[in-house]
Amino acid sequence: MDKELSSIFVIFGGTGDLTKRKLIPAIFSLMYEEKLPENFTIVSIGRREKTNEEYREDMYESVKKFSRFSLNDELWHKFSMRIFYKNFDFTSDKVGYKDLDTFLETMDTKHLTGGKRLYYLAVAPEFFEGIIRNLKSNGMVDKANGWQRIMIEKPFGSSLETARILNHNISKLIPEENIFRIDHYLGKEMIQNILAIRFGNSLFEPLWNANYIDNIQITSNELLGVENRGGYYENAGILKDMLQNHLLQMLTMIAMEPPVDFEPESIRDEKVKVLRSLRLFTAASFKENIVRGQYGEGEVDGKKAVAYREEDRVSPLSNTDTFIALKTYIDNFRWGGVPIYIRAGKRMNTKSTEIVIQFKKLPGINYYKDFNEVVHNLLVLKIQPEEGFFFQINAKKPGSEFKMEKVQLDYCQSCKYLNDSPEAYERLLLEAIRNNSSLFTRWDELEYSWKFIESIENQFKTTLHEYPNYSAGTSGPREAIDLIEKDGRQWWNTAAD
Ligand SMILES: NC(=O)c1ccc[n+]([C@@H]2O[C@H](COP(=O)([O-])OP(=O)(O)OC[C@H]3O[C@@H](n4cnc5c(N)ncnc54)[C@H](OP(=O)(O)O)[C@@H]3O)[C@@H](O)[C@H]2O)c1
Repeated sequence: MDKELSSIFVIFGGTGDLTKRKLIPAIFSLMYEEKLPENFTIVSIGRREKTNEEYREDMYESVKKFSRFSLNDELWHKFSMRIFYKNFDFTSDKVGYKDLDTFLETMDTKHLTGGKRLYYLAVAPEFFEGIIRNLKSNGMVDKANGWQRIMIEKPFGSSLETARILNHNISKLIPEENIFRIDHYLGKEMIQNILAIRFGNSLFEPLWNANYIDNIQITSNELLGVENRGGYYENAGILKDMLQNHLLQMLTMIAMEPPVDFEPESIRDEKVKVLRSLRLFTAASFKENIVRGQYGEGEVDGKKAVAYREEDRVSPLSNTDTFIALKTYIDNFRWGGVPIYIRAGKRMNTKSTEIVIQFKKLPGINYYKDFNEVVHNLLVLKIQPEEGFFFQINAKKPGSEFKMEKVQLDYCQSCKYLNDSPEAYERLLLEAIRNNSSLFTRWDELEYSWKFIESIENQFKTTLHEYPNYSAGTSGPREAIDLIEKDGRQWWNTAAD
């Protein structure tokens, strides 16, 4: 086991939802698979009064419920003895930070973790800067020994301006290479697989450009509404919850040039070029190319669903968007003129995230009337819930007549490797401990993605809302279908078809 991985994982927000559902189960899975050394230690911070034992009992329930591996007593005992809980108010308790530092140093001596600390900010965004400031002023991010890194949850800022201010302030406290900004989609198996499929197959890479690709579609549909996160969603909406981060990150992986090597900076250099080339919206292009929506009541999966405006902690007059469909372009040499269609929504009729590459039809088929029926070649990367890919080609239908038919090759990777695929947070935590920042968002990527979002938001402010404009359990507003059909194309959705 790599000695560098011996470290302390310090969670701010240790009693929160993210820690319970994702972080602790992810660390447990990493320990289960022996990817972390036995002296790896977890220190959680919250406000609630709890003893270590009480906290461990809570985490036992979380791991039982959310881990992909089943618990056994021996492993749990070993794991739980490495979990500690500290309660203090991280906004105002200066002594709390000093005590925490002393405790972490004691842990270093006891468990030989050598000053290596991964601080995870699983807290609301307004606390990011304050916590980092306190860590800095207590000498907790620039120790003489080991390394100290900070993982920051999304959202990073709420606009281009606030993201810039936040970045400006924290970059004075810690160097960029020690900041790991999370976009958990980058930890998903199939997002990683995009690079393998693109750069590992002579079949695809030569065709991966405007000469052969007709359009690219990214769809992310959810059955769920806002659940218990209405307060957060009211401020975020679909733009900041999905588009600014996950959807644009997927686009960068699909559209980037081959990096010179697999070093984090080489990959991120290529991703940022895609974001820089994204065409921004203007008042004129906005009208034609964006459809927004908010769900009304309806039926999802056979159950009645309330309208967004009736959800918990949502204003009855809310104008927050729960759906978006748009068409844009990447104005660079490879992608000039290829439309990029993106849509995402809550309370839709299917749960699926897919990227569709639609290839152009062969020219000249009109000379052979038998070829009139050929369909587009499609490569579909299935991100979730099913992981895998789907490839559509044309072939001859067996029989004495010369008739074409479409053939669909469907590979379900998650069916083949049942339970073998690590959860996104497992991969991300391990890579942060390994100091591999390629799965995290660099500041310039964020800055360009916020610029794109701002070009949409500026227009949103000037347009009228007539919400709700789609029923829960449908494919969104009718205008989203018109958006693509007016170009003579259609949305593909292999999960729904
Ligand atoms: N939950 C998710 O699925 C999810 C998904 C993606 C991103 N995120 C992001 O992850 C972050 C955390 O989300 P969450 O859902 O886990 O939030 P949460 O359930 O509200 O948890 C917040 C945590 O912060 C602690 N806390 C708040 N104020 C504190 C203070 N002054 N001093 C000490 N501790 C304090 C709370 O401790 P006490 O309760 O003990 O006071 C609790 O542990 C947010 O940035 C969110 O946007 C969450």
